Amino acid sequence: MSKKKFYITTPIYYVNDVPHLGHAYTSIAADVLARHHKLNGDDVFLLTGTDEHGAKIAEAAKEAGKAPQEFVDGLVPIFENVCKVLNVQYNEFFRTTNPKHERIVQEIIGRLKDKGYLEKRKYEGLYCVGCEKFLTKDDLVEGKCPDHKTAPVTHSEENYFFLLTKIAKEKDLYGLIESDKFKVSPMTRKNEVLGKIKAGLEDVSISRESVEWGVKFPGDEKQTVYVWVDALINYYSATKIYKDGPIWPADLHLIGKDILWFHAVIWPAMLLAIGEELPKEVFAHGFFTIGGHKMSKTVGNVLDPSELVEKFGADAVRYVILREFPFGEDGDISEEKIAKRYDAELASGLGNLVSRVISMINKYNIVIDKESKRHTDRQFIDEHIEKLEFDSALVLINQYISSADKIIEENKPWELAKQGNNKKLTMVLSGLHHRLSSINEYIEPFMPETSEKMKKQLKTLKPEPLFPRLEKD
Ligand code: MSP
Repeated sequence: MSKKKFYITTPIYYVNDVPHLGHAYTSIAADVLARHHKLNGDDVFLLTGTDEHGAKIAEAAKEAGKAPQEFVDGLVPIFENVCKVLNVQYNEFFRTTNPKHERIVQEIIGRLKDKGYLEKRKYEGLYCVGCEKFLTKDDLVEGKCPDHKTAPVTHSEENYFFLLTKIAKEKDLYGLIESDKFKVSPMTRKNEVLGKIKAGLEDVSISRESVEWGVKFPGDEKQTVYVWVDALINYYSATKIYKDGPIWPADLHLIGKDILWFHAVIWPAMLLAIGEELPKEVFAHGFFTIGGHKMSKTVGNVLDPSELVEKFGADAVRYVILREFPFGEDGDISEEKIAKRYDAELASGLGNLVSRVISMINKYNIVIDKESKRHTDRQFIDEHIEKLEFDSALVLINQYISSADKIIEENKPWELAKQGNNKKLTMVLSGLHHRLSSINEYIEPFMPETSEKMKKQLKTLKPEPLFPRLEKD
């Protein structure tokens, strides 16, 4: 039987500054899903990368006194490194400045034009450079962008417009989303998108006269392609550039909730207009907040993923950020929260359990009974992972860990040893060893390094701390 394909993407990150934990969040979740599918034998392709054009990057480059290309070339390795230190195993790292991609963007604009979905119009609006999009007066809070806390600038120019209203009506985009033929998740986000479509769509300006740093607009060298159109196309052009076999459509676009409209409305509309298949699902997660405020480079309240990895290790960071709150919702995160869970659930929980069981097996000279039953509740964990309920999957795993602790407390192997009840002692410790092997499988997509170490320890019976105690400042 041929392998099932699973093509999953993260957003491509703006390289106007170094990455923060909010960026790492989507990549970690994508990696957990990718590893889960790989373990199930699927043919997985995980794409991530960087969004390198547009006014926001050009401004940041100017401030740094560098040419945009030189500026992004300097930052991209830092983004790649964050994936590396967090063990995010992507298949390709996509850069929108790849000339092959630029040609595909131009080709798609050409197709939109040939199909009659482009029109040149005069436009005036309020533009937020932080968001790289036009905002309406209703979007503003006290005259400022609520995400970036900056006032938008008035832009007036002649642009090419993508006829979103026309294609959405012709192909019934609303119906496609409502029927889940094109799935938007979680349900709250789906309803939000449906509500906004119902309230009325507007055509989208997809070129910029005032922005030089971008893909040249085909047929009009004075304009560049709107950075969001350039960026969305990455998901498609990657399949042409990197993969021989057919992998389009994407099975899952993982994104943050702030970029839902682009992925759930503009992107499918573009694909419908050029006659390509739609992605199967777009899932929007919530935000990391710090004291209730979105963690963001512009606001300046960010946590550095590499620093956290240095303090807690990659697996602990991966674990805590997916464990802390449901993936679709917002949640507060801080170093203290990570430290607390590290101590309670990793060092005192899993780490302690593994070392306790292995020490007792050694102390009482137990030969593990191979026949002893394996724990088989994997199905429930798998279901949670597939529904992107990572926190629930980890709660279940923790329950298995606690129940192993309980087995120790109830059976008191040290007393069985004192009584000379070797049969029961072997049964209990073999059972615990098997339970740990199962737990080891469950944690593999979440904590690959720990799982590898734990597997080795269960085989060699040489315990080493999986989660060393944290040094207190
Ligand atoms: N370049 C665009 C995406 C183009 S995809 C075709 C972009 N880049 S971004 O760098 O600003 O954001 C990338 C992702 O990081 C988004 O999904 C965004 O939601 C996510 N996050 C940024 N800050 C975040 C938090 N504080 N918390 C969680 N995710 C956050 O948008």
